[in-house]
Amino acid sequence: MKKLFYLLATLLFPVQYLAAQASDFPQLDKWVETWKTGQQTYFGYPVNQQSAMHDFYEWYLSAGMEVINLNNAGDPMTGEPWKMSSHAFEREVIEYFAPYYGFGEDEVWGIVTHSGTDGNNHGIYFGANYLKNKTKMEPVVYVSDEAHYSNMRLAHLQNLDMRLIKSDPMGRMIPEELEKALDTSRPVLIIYAMGSTFKGAIDDMEALNAVLDRHTELPAVYRHVDAALFGGYLPFTGHRRMVSHKEMHYESIAISGHKFFGIDSPSGLFLCTRDVYDNQADFNVTYLNGNMRMINCSRDAVQPLKFWWIIRKVGAEKWTRQAAQIMECTAYLKRQLDLAGWPAWVNEYSNTVFFRRPSPEIVKLYTLAQGYDDKFGGELAHIVVMQHVTKEKIDRFVGDLKELSDQ
Ligand SMILES: Cc1ncc(COP(=O)(O)O)c(C=O)c1O
Repeated sequence: MKKLFYLLATLLFPVQYLAAQASDFPQLDKWVETWKTGQQTYFGYPVNQQSAMHDFYEWYLSAGMEVINLNNAGDPMTGEPWKMSSHAFEREVIEYFAPYYGFGEDEVWGIVTHSGTDGNNHGIYFGANYLKNKTKMEPVVYVSDEAHYSNMRLAHLQNLDMRLIKSDPMGRMIPEELEKALDTSRPVLIIYAMGSTFKGAIDDMEALNAVLDRHTELPAVYRHVDAALFGGYLPFTGHRRMVSHKEMHYESIAISGHKFFGIDSPSGLFLCTRDVYDNQADFNVTYLNGNMRMINCSRDAVQPLKFWWIIRKVGAEKWTRQAAQIMECTAYLKRQLDLAGWPAWVNEYSNTVFFRRPSPEIVKLYTLAQGYDDKFGGELAHIVVMQHVTKEKIDRFVGDLKELSDQ
């Protein structure tokens, strides 16, 4: 009934109905208005602005779930689901995604995380514990100087020795630089950037693995993949082998839920092998009746439900179409900038086009993210081509760029 009323109201009285949704807090309502107008030209950040969560919220309220305080503290993959949780759904989410990242059903362990950063935190923490358990030695963390800053922050937070490895001009870790920096007397915890944040570079895992494989004297190796954005769409393209554990031999991977998948608030996936999970320290917590190997105690129970929902409401077929559209529009944006004579660059498999920074007016109008690199002439900006960045909007952007920026 409520659903029918909503449908009729939106069809017959869209403006009045929306007005009826006012909160009685003018400050809040004014802020909401800014989103209705600006959202579709948010070009600089990797968020899908076409979230498919509308009927999730309708269901949530109509089912009266808002009065139930759920919590996913504990392990969704091992033992009976905890009564006050959505563990059963979280487990199904991990099992659904496992094959897309090349994990066998019996080989995977994972959780729905609070964000890409939370997934990286688990990758680094699990990696360090795994290596210490196997070798009784402290590992060294290796990460490229173009990787997302969360990795450096987290290595610092976890008090780990870290070596920043130089990347090539396009942003990929240089295998020869990794080899030069290797401390072969200690275990290696390497973080592969699967989409460096500004240039969208993917570290060449096969070339970097070859360096590590050559050094048979290394006590042990753990590879974590930071695939916050690219880990969303690559499984739904012809390049899926690049995110495959089976093909790339990594131990763990982190992906954001609010980027490609379009969940409307921060969330993510963390997947690792059972071997990694089995090599974590036990924390038997009596009051939770569980072995708490992950970092957080309380964990969000709604995000796994949102993931579970979009698997059914959007799912692989639509994600495949969206991934193709993103790739096509990325090539289109690069071509249009080339035709306009505006210096621009894009990495292979990437949906991030970086280019000479236009006028501040354009940067503001399209909420472009800014960067700086002498190798590309200094001031830069980028666009992350997400689902809402269509060819029509790209044409408008390039038109505005030509009109409002000095060539
Ligand atoms: C490559 C990369 N890793 C990690 C993150 C952090 O992810 P989150 O914002 O989900 O914490 C980002 C965010 O943009 C990213 O681009």
